[in-house]
Amino acid sequence: MRFSNFLWLLLLMPMSVWAQSKGQIDFNKDWKFYKGTVANGEQKTLNDDKWATVRIPHDWAIDGPFSDEYNARSGGLPFHGEGWYRKHFTLTNTQKDKQVAIEFEGVMNNSEVWINEHYLGKRPFGYIGFEYDLTPYLNKDGENVIAVKVAPEDLSSRWYPGAGMYRKVWLNVNNPIHIAHWGTFVKATNVSSRVATVEMEVEVENHLKVDEVVSLVQSVISPEGKVIETLETKTVAEAGKTIHAFKSFNLLKPQLWSQENPNLYHLKTEIKNQKGEVTDTYVSRFGIRDIKFTAKEGFFLNGKLTKFYGVCLHHDLGPLGAAVNRRATERQLQIMKSMGVNAIRTSHNPPSTELLELCDEMGLVVLDEAFDEWKIAKIENGYHKVFDEWHERDLRDMIRRDRNHPSIIMWSIGNEILEQGQKDGWKVAQRLAEICHEEDPSRPSTAGFNNYYGSIKNKLADQIDIVGFNYKPAKYKEVVEAHPDWIIYGSETESVTSSRGVYHDTFLEKYTKFSDNQVTSYDIVGPVWAYPPDMEFKFQAENPSIMGEFMWTGFDYFGEPTPYGGRDNSTNGYWNDDWPSKSSYFGAVDLCGFPKDRYYLYQSQWTDTPMVHLLPHWNWKGFEGKEIPVFAYTNAEEVELFLNGKSLGKKVKGVDKAMIPVKFRFYEGPNNFESPYRLRWDVPYAAGELKAVAYTDGKVVSEEIIATSGRAKAIELSADRKVISCNDGEDLVFVTAKAVDQNGNFCATFNGELQLDVKGTGTFEASGNGDAASLITANSKKLKFFNGLALIIARANEGQEGMITISAKGKKLKAASIQVETKKTKEPESFL
Ligand code: GAL
Repeated sequence: MRFSNFLWLLLLMPMSVWAQSKGQIDFNKDWKFYKGTVANGEQKTLNDDKWATVRIPHDWAIDGPFSDEYNARSGGLPFHGEGWYRKHFTLTNTQKDKQVAIEFEGVMNNSEVWINEHYLGKRPFGYIGFEYDLTPYLNKDGENVIAVKVAPEDLSSRWYPGAGMYRKVWLNVNNPIHIAHWGTFVKATNVSSRVATVEMEVEVENHLKVDEVVSLVQSVISPEGKVIETLETKTVAEAGKTIHAFKSFNLLKPQLWSQENPNLYHLKTEIKNQKGEVTDTYVSRFGIRDIKFTAKEGFFLNGKLTKFYGVCLHHDLGPLGAAVNRRATERQLQIMKSMGVNAIRTSHNPPSTELLELCDEMGLVVLDEAFDEWKIAKIENGYHKVFDEWHERDLRDMIRRDRNHPSIIMWSIGNEILEQGQKDGWKVAQRLAEICHEEDPSRPSTAGFNNYYGSIKNKLADQIDIVGFNYKPAKYKEVVEAHPDWIIYGSETESVTSSRGVYHDTFLEKYTKFSDNQVTSYDIVGPVWAYPPDMEFKFQAENPSIMGEFMWTGFDYFGEPTPYGGRDNSTNGYWNDDWPSKSSYFGAVDLCGFPKDRYYLYQSQWTDTPMVHLLPHWNWKGFEGKEIPVFAYTNAEEVELFLNGKSLGKKVKGVDKAMIPVKFRFYEGPNNFESPYRLRWDVPYAAGELKAVAYTDGKVVSEEIIATSGRAKAIELSADRKVISCNDGEDLVFVTAKAVDQNGNFCATFNGELQLDVKGTGTFEASGNGDAASLITANSKKLKFFNGLALIIARANEGQEGMITISAKGKKLKAASIQVETKKTKEPESFL
């Protein structure tokens, strides 16, 4: 372990929504798109008039159709094959003498790019951003054509990757002397509440044939937007070279970045020529914080011991697919925060810039992960095919792109890498950890190991700074005793599966498949390596030096529909045995953002705001008098349960334990676990009202009622926001449709149809219901409720102020409509 118990004094920084240079131009509109093979698609003269016009970010596969021709392992969606994007543009007069580059934040995948038929290069990895210089090949007075060929392969991902130009594109138009792409690195050392040393590294490129003397003006802007320090340095920008300039200063009374107060500073870097004119401006956002990892106690943020209440997240955004959207990402993170989450693992790839910016703003810490495969294949066409040629570039680029985000606290070099089982697997681990340290000495390296014996015996765990174990809570004690200097956490935990609102009448069922392709939601069912959240809570409590966990997963995602059609994590080939299951059941929250029961189990452990949650639903016609297991999840001291007004008794959390079945790999305990984390009553069923009353210090702190519902009679709509922005056509509103009976009771088992409509100053964007086995695609305005809920997503039309009217109707249901205002909103200050 190279840096065990080392003090990671850190702070980090920039790149924000607008963390960019003055020369950055939004290049996301009016791309032409064709899905299919095109001979010579780069030819300038090719007629693309009939191609679709799309806006980027764009995911060509999300609208399906779902088909068992495709692999359920990757969502049953047509993400592989060939697709072409083209954009025509002319330069303005002021752009003609500039240095012009195109920046892609990520193209999924195997992209190749041409400008005016000149081949610029390829990028196999879909999760990394890249830039090409266009300057020498531009037509200054006429039309220019950029062509992008994208060619994802089948059997190339263990989850749904999305397809095409799914992240943003920019045209970077700069003077010949300018700050390089990802060209600032701001870090703070010796951080305390009294003072921090802010260290700034800037890279300046000179594309001229002559050296130039320039001044670098660095202004640090406080979280309130005031310039608090300005430093000016003269330097020589050498012809045709990139120079590195370093500067530091002591900042008194820094406003630290923390989970409660995620304070963000900006560094504005200007280049001035000898006449004193500003010729480039580049703004980087950063935070000042101190991170420290110790083997004995765990992780400290600004001196505060902080456990990871973490989730693993894949990158898709449910019905929106993989196309990045800032508001959709923000909503995901808000839902995660309300579950009590304080940490995100970007499983198993570099995330979108939007996600990192939002984590900076929301005070979430991030484990930024590079790879799911090294040289040994998990799947036929996975990253192993390009690992030798590309891993160094991809890993360095990830760190250079992301190093200024204060939210990032570790770099992960891989997930469940099969080299764990190889005698000399440590060599690759060592090299990758070295790259992390070379690029960023201020953060530790880590990895997620599932091969407990292999990763230790073959010394991979010795090569990284922080050891993550996937699904090994029963081994924490042993590994802590054997390796007292290791800093350890649960990099991936739990993997329980469930379908929102589904409770089969076998109740506490074990790992059985059902004809409805659903999984019961009692939070006990999972594959052989999985275990209920309770077991992780127990082993973490018994081993307090373990730094916390990242549960699998916060949200459901497309692909990997375990237990349906799934065999193991690394299975080659197709997963279609149980079609139409094609999205995951692992989420604590479903694909639409509706919480499943597990969300509340975590909330009961990870949050303090009083809550109580009851399960299952209370619609059990035909079960009158039969015992139904009822669980309550609460963070209060005790809960009293009432059926139709009659008390069924109080139970005390941690004392009255709930029996649940458990059996998983490496766990040698009994097959039943008395969980102190849930309360359980076995209630003889009678229709009516089940009510939980939670008490702390003898006082009622929270209540929940679930009622037997009659037939669904009406739809209720509710929007996540009343007003959304129409500034750029990017903002979305999320509307929940709920089925209710004539008394307004939620119809928890209703699966009837509904028809949607969106009018006014917005357009229909997508819909969904969270059913992992539904074949209705996200672009459909006709869908079904899934256990009483459905989701409608509408987009504000760019520049149109007014009202969006979203309506929903269904057979024998009272229709509903809701209005959401679209308004021009104030842009965040850019400091450019
Ligand atoms: C893990 C793997 C994840 C996912 C999960 C499902 O072993 O790292 O990517 O496959 O299993 O339980």
